[in-house]
Amino acid sequence: MTKITWKAGTMLYPVPPAMISCGTMEHPNIMTAAWTGIINSEPPMTYVSIRPSRFSHKIIKDSGEFVINLPTLSMVVAADFCGVKSGRDTDKFKEMELTPLKSSQINAPQILESPISLECRVIDIKSFGSHDMFLAEIVAVNVDDKYLDNEGKFWIEKTGLLAFAHGHYFTLGRNLGSFGFSVNKNRLNMMKKMEKIEVKTKEPKILIEKRAEKEARPLNKPSKFSKKHIRSKTVPSSRHSNKFLGKTKFAKSN
Ligand SMILES: Cc1cc2nc3c(=O)[nH]c(=O)nc-3n(C[C@H](O)[C@H](O)[C@H](O)COP(=O)(O)O)c2cc1C
Repeated sequence: MTKITWKAGTMLYPVPPAMISCGTMEHPNIMTAAWTGIINSEPPMTYVSIRPSRFSHKIIKDSGEFVINLPTLSMVVAADFCGVKSGRDTDKFKEMELTPLKSSQINAPQILESPISLECRVIDIKSFGSHDMFLAEIVAVNVDDKYLDNEGKFWIEKTGLLAFAHGHYFTLGRNLGSFGFSVNKNRLNMMKKMEKIEVKTKEPKILIEKRAEKEARPLNKPSKFSKKHIRSKTVPSSRHSNKFLGKTKFAKSN
């Protein structure tokens, strides 16, 4: 394996293409921001980095409030639109047929259509050059109750959340395991049963990662997994069951 070194850059992906709503119920605005994240657990704190030229910058600076709304597959057009059009000359809620919904703790509205909306109150603003970082406390979390089961578990994988990576939007793929599964024997065995990973007791390995390594190839060489190859391969190899081959193809296309 060879790795090449690029000049310094912002290559930390995937990140959420968060839809930041701000303003008031009467005059709401949305801007898309990928430069956001969590900076503290207790109290829950976040940030969003915004260029001073954005219309939302002044609104958030003046009001000290914003909402981080996580977009889903059905919102991908809106997420992109709110990242290229300015609220200076466009009513993005109206254009994208989104609904401003009253927040519980702040005046800035949340987006009804987003399954997860974090109400945030700005506590500090730090300038670093291109962007100003709005440090904020998360003062309330709003979730769509249609993803809650009877026990109150929130099924996040059913929401179809988006990820943004290297200039492209993606949906989240398969659920590969819960937090800490790599060191929990029971959970590893459960994963094995679900045929997602191969469990070696001493050294657990995620099968699709092993494959990805094996299949790594220079970009100019045709892939043995090209469409032509997959179409012509009707008989499964002796090492894998038919079912498993299907999963391999799925992993490749993601
Ligand atoms: C996927 C995506 C991510 C973006 N991330 C940021 C960001 O983190 N910070 C920022 O200042 N602008 C970001 N932008 C650009 C703003 O969303 C864009 O300039 C928008 O039109 C600003 O809207 P406003 O003028 O109504 O505030 C992003 C755009 C896209 C499409």
